Amino acid sequence: MKGIILAGGSGTRLYPITRAISKQLMPIFDKPMIYYPLSTLLSAGINEILIISTPEDIPLFKRLLGDGKNLGCKFSYKVQEMPRGLADAFIVGEDFIGKDKVAMILGDNIFYGSQIDNELSKYTNIDGALGFAAYVKDPQRYGVYEFDKNMNVVSIEEKPKRPKSNYANSGLYFFDNNVSKIAKHVAPSKRGEIEITSVLDSYLKQGNLKVCLLEKGTAWLDTGTFDSMMKAAQFVQVIEERQGIKIGCIEEIAYKKGFINKKQLKKLAESQIKSGYGKYLLDLI
Ligand code: TTP
Repeated sequence: MKGIILAGGSGTRLYPITRAISKQLMPIFDKPMIYYPLSTLLSAGINEILIISTPEDIPLFKRLLGDGKNLGCKFSYKVQEMPRGLADAFIVGEDFIGKDKVAMILGDNIFYGSQIDNELSKYTNIDGALGFAAYVKDPQRYGVYEFDKNMNVVSIEEKPKRPKSNYANSGLYFFDNNVSKIAKHVAPSKRGEIEITSVLDSYLKQGNLKVCLLEKGTAWLDTGTFDSMMKAAQFVQVIEERQGIKIGCIEEIAYKKGFINKKQLKKLAESQIKSGYGKYLLDLI
């Protein structure tokens, strides 16, 4: 399975911060935002990853992450000329996906918990589509799943006025190889975007959509507003300082997944020793 991080968009809810720089390059406590979704894909065992962003921001992502070799990964980059919607990832990324299956994660979503660390890799051979549902207080802001009494998904609606449940569609999805074909046939919504909800709905209508509930102990944070960005940073800071671990540490996960060895980790550590980030990596060895 390959992975896509969708890290473009307009970031208008963070203006003026994002007038000159991508939201996904903003810091969330001690690392750039994109490290968090990247670490989630690595946790799933995925190391061939496409980063999609705006024409202006792609060079910055390349500067930050390079070709991924130092992490035992293969990173590639593709421009999305206009923010045409989340499902556009599968059209922009069609050549990259090729004949493989693909996981997609939003560049401003943070997932944290043992379910994420330990269980994602079991979904990488999926047939159909898999979404992750999170219980939220304000479902009308999201794509919302409806379940029957056996917790089988029966509908998904984008930003409904009267949500049928409190289960929101979070920003992580696993798909089989049909996803680009399906995305190309999806009609744009009223707001002019090709919605991921419509792609998931197509899978549902074919009887091929599964939904995994995020457990109570799993944190799902999005970072698209001043408030949510600050809260995410505080969350990361509290956990990291209290537990002496790091969240979203791509070098650590690459090491634990066996993508890199001790020698390679040491090299990555030494290049960023002054901030303390490198010291944490050295302590892992
Ligand atoms: P959103 O938060 O829905 O949109 P945005 O980032 O453009 O922000 P705003 O509402 O403040 O203008 O996007 C979710 C994620 O998906 C985010 O990481 C940006 C990314 N994205 C794209 O890369 N391309 C797109 O076409 C869209 C709609 C979003």
